[in-house]
Amino acid sequence: MTGHDPFGLRSLTVDQLRSTPGVKWQQHPDRLAAWVADMDFPMAPAITDRLQSIIDRGMAGYQQWGTGASPAGRVFVDRMASKYGWSIDVDRVHDLADVLQGVRLAIGMLTEPGDAIALHTPAYHPFLQSLADMDRRLVHAPFDVDELRTVIALEKPVALLLCHPQNPTGHVFDRQQLEAIAEIVEEFDLIVISDEIHSDLVYGPKTHIPFASLSPAVESRTITVTSTSKAFNLASLRWAVMHVGIERFDVMVRSYPRHWFGSPNLFGVEAAVAAWTGGDEWLAAVMDVLDENRHRLAELVEAYLPGVKYQIPSATYLAWIDCSVLGEGDGPFELFQSRGVELSPGMQFGANGSGHVRLNFATSPAVVEQIVATMAST
Ligand SMILES: Cc1ncc(COP(=O)(O)O)c(C=O)c1O
Repeated sequence: MTGHDPFGLRSLTVDQLRSTPGVKWQQHPDRLAAWVADMDFPMAPAITDRLQSIIDRGMAGYQQWGTGASPAGRVFVDRMASKYGWSIDVDRVHDLADVLQGVRLAIGMLTEPGDAIALHTPAYHPFLQSLADMDRRLVHAPFDVDELRTVIALEKPVALLLCHPQNPTGHVFDRQQLEAIAEIVEEFDLIVISDEIHSDLVYGPKTHIPFASLSPAVESRTITVTSTSKAFNLASLRWAVMHVGIERFDVMVRSYPRHWFGSPNLFGVEAAVAAWTGGDEWLAAVMDVLDENRHRLAELVEAYLPGVKYQIPSATYLAWIDCSVLGEGDGPFELFQSRGVELSPGMQFGANGSGHVRLNFATSPAVVEQIVATMAST
């Protein structure tokens, strides 16, 4: 609905954005910022109101949440039921500070150094870093499920780290693909760590299907980790949630002292509750702008960067762009830096990122246009 802009998403300008305090616009002040996965949009009023009400109370002492999931963890349970028909046991839900914490906990506690872990590549770079840091062997998982089966049979990984929807390609695994993946992980007895942080950012008519919701058998071999931080732009509030489908992991988590996992922050919890109970109107407006931007980007790339290949993503505000035609080898990122735009270098996402850049289009349509025009400037 172009023109109607109740949340001020369409009118953002580069001058305004340059004065915002986050890392995105401050780290490279001379360049247009289209790199880190933060959106330029101001927070949903439902969230700012709720955070303001805590400040107005003037109290931030220990909360009476009891043991188990926080109020945000409980809202996660409700949202999975109402949005996806996935009914989960709240006792299997744990609050975390961030999604990577859950991913690393699951890798560290359920696999051993030297074990192989499959991951679709190109991949979100902290996943690659986590596997390297933890001495796990990366198995490149093909997106095609027949090829995936061959690779798994050959490489014998113990786990699949599933990024669903996928960063950086914006791929949404549909039911058929998910069921084929489920068959493979059951046949070869893999556990699945499913990062679903981008699941609120799927463009219709496609829909998200939580991997663990496929069947009780699939759930029993899956850890799901997600958060409000991407779709509602709350990364610094440090809250995420983990659903533990794997019985032995549940026993392990309970056997460790609670303090080893940390405990959630009041503001992070309250923001997540506000996002998932009162933020959907704002999210729909955001998706409206993002949907326009992802299509407009195709026209802009064609007009300004002929020959460069961009496939419109099915989810996320990230565009995975193949710039091989520019003949810059691994480094089109440096070329665009020199022209005044900060993107994410393709090589960061693994070896098959050569010749690519990732562009973050979560900003106003005018700024997207300015970014692409600047990428083409000489
Ligand atoms: C797939 C994926 N997982 C995790 C994260 C980071 O989440 P957190 O800050 O909660 O660890 C991101 C951030 O871009 C992401 O794209």
